[in-house]
Amino acid sequence: MKKSPLQEAVSKDYARMLKGTVERASCCEQKSGAGMISSLAGYEPASHQEEAASQSFGCGNPLAFIDIEPGQTVLDLGSGAGLDLMLAADRTGPAGKVIGIDMTQEMVDKAKANIKAAGYDNVEVRQGMIESLPIADSSVDWVISNCVINLSQEKARVFSEIARVLKPGGHFSISDIVVQELPEFLRENAALYSACVAGAISEQAYLEGLRDAGLVHIQITDRLVYEESQLASLISCEIPGLDISQELIDEIAPMVAGKVWSARFIGRMAG
Ligand SMILES: C[S@@+](CC[C@H](N)C(=O)[O-])C[C@H]1O[C@@H](n2cnc3c(N)ncnc32)[C@H](O)[C@@H]1O
Repeated sequence: MKKSPLQEAVSKDYARMLKGTVERASCCEQKSGAGMISSLAGYEPASHQEEAASQSFGCGNPLAFIDIEPGQTVLDLGSGAGLDLMLAADRTGPAGKVIGIDMTQEMVDKAKANIKAAGYDNVEVRQGMIESLPIADSSVDWVISNCVINLSQEKARVFSEIARVLKPGGHFSISDIVVQELPEFLRENAALYSACVAGAISEQAYLEGLRDAGLVHIQITDRLVYEESQLASLISCEIPGLDISQELIDEIAPMVAGKVWSARFIGRMAG
């Protein structure tokens, strides 16, 4: 599947953000931007996972309190630099398998390097689109995703793909940004799209989308509502070099505070 022009722009932004994590000292000396939310979400990476943790752009923790069993297969949609892949592989053990899909080649390359350096040999990363997963029907026990589906313009298609690849009775755990009453002019801001805000939908629309795809027993298990300062820091530090001025950040942060949060959706495929 070919990337749309918007997806091309998002991919470029993520390649740039990833590079920014390496050059980050200039923007964010304390923990903020990449890595900030993962620490808020309770991640405690082991030393061999620290590099991937510092390159994490997640907004929650889809792996918290879920029962991945040894030997199972886990699929991560939009796997980024690979932190959740490694944490999932710790749960499946060597008898299981973990697969990551990401559309950004630089992220795929980085995840592969991080995984190799950390010594995992049951984790595979594929370049691909979450709207058209390069994964067989009814083949995975778990679908996880961390802050990715908001970036898709075809969310119904992504939800259908989740239902297609899950085995009967298979589970999903998705952390993502949701919004409530976002001012229209912000929806059109490309930098805010890449920052996971402008493309986000409401909790209600998310729940309906998952249900319409045939997924069942859907619940929201936790929420992380961002304070104004966290939002400002997230926007300014995650997208260094993008066309978003400090003035605009200062204007936007109070406008969206309380209207943007991360929610975790869990549920399963019938059967
Ligand atoms: C906010 S980052 C999250 C990365 C990772 N899940 C984490 O927690 O660090 C979003 C990731 O999703 C990928 N992505 C966005 N839209 C995608 C799509 N339609 N198909 C596949 N990957 C996508 C981006 O390339 C990027 O790596």
